[in-house]
Parts: sequence; C-alpha cells; structure tokens
Amino acid sequence: MKEQIDNLVDELKNFKISSKDELEKFRLKFLVKKGLVNDLFNEFKSLTGEEKKKWGKELNVAKQKVESFYKSSLEQLEESGVGNSEVESELPGYFSELGGRHPISYVVEEMNQIFERLGFSVSVGPEVEDDWHNFSALNFPPNHPARDMQDTFFVEDDIALRTHTSSVQVRLMEEGNLPIRSVMPGRVYRNEAISARSNCFFHQVEGLYINKGVSFLDLKQTLYNFVQEFFGANTKVRFRASYFPFTEPSAEMDIFLGTETESDYKLTKGTGWLEILGCGMVDPNVLENCKIDSNEYSGFAFGLGVDRIAMLKYGVKDLRTFFNNDKRFLDQFATL
Ligand code: PHE
Repeated sequence: MKEQIDNLVDELKNFKISSKDELEKFRLKFLVKKGLVNDLFNEFKSLTGEEKKKWGKELNVAKQKVESFYKSSLEQLEESGVGNSEVESELPGYFSELGGRHPISYVVEEMNQIFERLGFSVSVGPEVEDDWHNFSALNFPPNHPARDMQDTFFVEDDIALRTHTSSVQVRLMEEGNLPIRSVMPGRVYRNEAISARSNCFFHQVEGLYINKGVSFLDLKQTLYNFVQEFFGANTKVRFRASYFPFTEPSAEMDIFLGTETESDYKLTKGTGWLEILGCGMVDPNVLENCKIDSNEYSGFAFGLGVDRIAMLKYGVKDLRTFFNNDKRFLDQFATL
C-alpha cells in the first residue's frame, strides 16, 4: 500500500497544469470514479483491520493533496483568465462582412474612366449651391421661366440643393485655368414626384471642354467615343435639337435599343430610342459670366443621367430599388 500511495504522490508532483485541457486531464486521471484515488480506496477496502488503521490516514492525506492541487490549479487558471469563456481560443472568430460598392458608383466610375482616357479630369463641387452657380451664371435670368425646368429644393432664398452638376462647371470656369477638360460626377436634387422612373434626387456625370476653336464636331466625336466604349461598338445614336439656357445650339442624344424585348419597349416608350444626355456649345454669355473671353475661347458641355443608364445596364425595373438599401439587392453587386 505504501508504494502505491507514494506513487500517487509522485505522479501528483510531476503534473503541471497550465490550461483548462490539462486540468480536465488531471481530473480524469485522479478524481473520477475510476481514477487513481478511487482505485486506491477500493484496494483499501480489501485490507485487514490492522492495515486499515495503518494506512487510512496516509491515504486520506494523499487524497486531500490531490484535491487541493486540483482546486488551487482551477483557481489559478481562473485568475489568470486562461480558458475563461471570453477568451475561448477554440471558438471561431466573428467575421465582419466586407461591404460592396453601390451599383450607381460602379456606373459613375466606369464613365469617369472612359472620359479620363479621352483626356478629361474629374472635378467635384458642393451639393448645396447658391443661386449664382446653379442658375444665374448659367444664363437663367431671374424669374425666367427656364428656371421652372428644374423644380428646385430651396434651403434659403438664394441657396438651394443643386439641380444639376453644371454648377461645378461654373466653379471650374471661374477658377480660370484654361483650357478646361473635365467631367463632374455627383448627386443632384429636383422636387419631382417619386415613381419607378423618377426620383427627387439622381446622379449626373457632366462634362466640359473649353479651349480655342472647340466646335460641335468635337462634342459629337467625344460622345461617339463614349457611347462606343460604354454601350458597345455598334451602338446607334441620334441627336435631337433641344434647349438649355446655358448652351447654344443645344441637343439631346439618344441611343438605339430597339423594341424587341419588353423592357426595351417600355423603356423607350415604343420608339426604340432612349435619351441619355443633354449637350451643346457653351453659350458665350456663360463664358463671359465666368470671365472667359468668348471671342477667344469656345467650348462644349454635356450632362449624362447616370441612374437611368444604371437601370438599363443592370436590368433594374424600379429606380427606387437602388436607394432603399435592401441588403439583398445590394449584395448582388458586392462581388463585381
Ligand atoms: N444641366 C443639364 C441638366 O441637368 C444637362 C446639360 C449639361 C445640358 C450640359 C447641356 C449641357 O438637365
């Protein structure tokens, strides 16, 4: 019996516990029903009365040593925090999902890149604008009905949410670093009824080129290049005469989608043609308003509506789905 008790104490001395795993191994080896301590007690039962007297006390002392070693190891582990539930090293970690880019941003980016390849830089400006930059400098006289073309959200008398990114064109022209060849992407606001096809805010990419001797031909060639890159080499386009206060002559450009699919038929109202931009030669009054000599310089400007093009590109039928932040919708673009 003595030898067995000594063995038990020796084993106990050799045991090191530095993790919850090791503590559990210890418990299984020494303290469970079929563990070493109980084995000894079972053997103890078969001893004679004389021997029991002799070894009982020693056996109990050994048992207490085992138990107090177990208790103190457990306390130490808890104090040092090893194996506490908060730092359960084997639990899988929490992963935060990566967000995706917004589909409108993809389209804006693609447009910017095409124009950058054509030599345009990218400029941005404020969404809250004064009357001068949004209207007056662009040849909208006060109380002129042309201002009704763009239903404006006013912040104060002379301050409004910009109705187009042409305001950034004015800012660039006022800076006066000629020639100017830049595109202006951004969000614009108009007080329009919200429906599947229009919203009270939308996105534009406008462009401006000012130099000596710029002609309508340059405008057309730039837009042809853009359309071929963005919509494909064989895309048909047409220009229709139009009116904007800040350009003269003015035009709108359509691309041909056809009417074969139901969605193309609807989108083009049965004509096959979809309007994608307004454009024209910058009105000399606008150049003069921005202190550019209109006898020396001329320029063209255009403004693309991004949202409708994004609807077309991604087959989205209701404009509003772009903006109600439904994760199931947005996730479809996350991997693009
Ligand atoms: N600013 C015009 C609009 O928002 C678009 C446009 C830009 C037209 C430049 C002509 C030239 O409707």
